[in-house]
Amino acid sequence: MAGLVLKNLSKTYEIDNKKITALKNVDLTVSPGSFVTIVGKSGCGKSTLLKILCDLEKNFSGTIEYTHIEKNKSPKIAIVFQEPRLMPWLTVEQNMAFSLQNHKDKAYVKQIVSEHLNLLGLYDFRKAYPSQISGGMAQRTALGRTLCYDPEIILMDEPLSALDYFNRQKLQNELVNIFLKTGKTILFVTHDVEEAIYLGQKIVVMDNGLLTKVVDIHMDYLRDTSSTQFLNLKKYILNIFNNISKEEKNEFL
Ligand SMILES: Nc1ncnc2c1ncn2[C@@H]1O[C@H](COP(=O)(O)OP(=O)(O)OP(=O)(O)O)[C@@H](O)[C@H]1O
Ligand SMILES: [Mg+2]
Repeated sequence: MAGLVLKNLSKTYEIDNKKITALKNVDLTVSPGSFVTIVGKSGCGKSTLLKILCDLEKNFSGTIEYTHIEKNKSPKIAIVFQEPRLMPWLTVEQNMAFSLQNHKDKAYVKQIVSEHLNLLGLYDFRKAYPSQISGGMAQRTALGRTLCYDPEIILMDEPLSALDYFNRQKLQNELVNIFLKTGKTILFVTHDVEEAIYLGQKIVVMDNGLLTKVVDIHMDYLRDTSSTQFLNLKKYILNIFNNISKEEKNEFL
């Protein structure tokens, strides 16, 4: 699996001649096969960071180095968005097979898709179209499409935030199990502190384009959200945000 080393990553947008700094000098190391969550308020630069990593945003400064990959090769990177972005004219299994459509070995494609349909509990709905499945199933299909592509790095931009509480919990657990099974490198963006602690081995706290803090989590999966250790971590992370807010207020005093 591939890792990442980001150095001095900065990104400025311009709207109506006004500069907007989305990322400021971000340094981050992501170990191969690790699950990193990025948490921060709306507008702090989370999506910008992921867009740069998957080449959707090319105009930035700083460097991105991939580690643990073959020499002169770039790793396969895929992104899962908040909304599933499925193709409505394709069935669940066809959507999942989409990245493999040019693969010559059709038996292999069938087997990979079938494995992931089972892994994500979608086998019985493989012939359904996106309009015939629930939001949770659609997001599972999107995840399946990404996994069938077999990327070395998976970027996830708030992929569970449109789901109801129960579906969200279920998919969080499925995601942890997939991570434990596949050992993929995952960067998962959320604005939910509890979700960040539940999923991540490392939590990256972002604010206003800055990487404010990186917290390593040493808790086994699946985590108990009501344990003292979990609640203390939640308090600790929320405190980081409270301190940021206090500093921001002081700036205006
Ligand atoms: N294409 C763009 N053009 C101009 N400004 C942009 C563009 N994309 C993002 N921005 C600005 O960059 C900043 C960071 O945006 P970004 O989308 O990365 O935030 P975010 O942390 O993902 O927020 P959210 O949690 O709401 O998704 C914001 O101020 C936003 O307005
Ligand atoms: Mg975003």
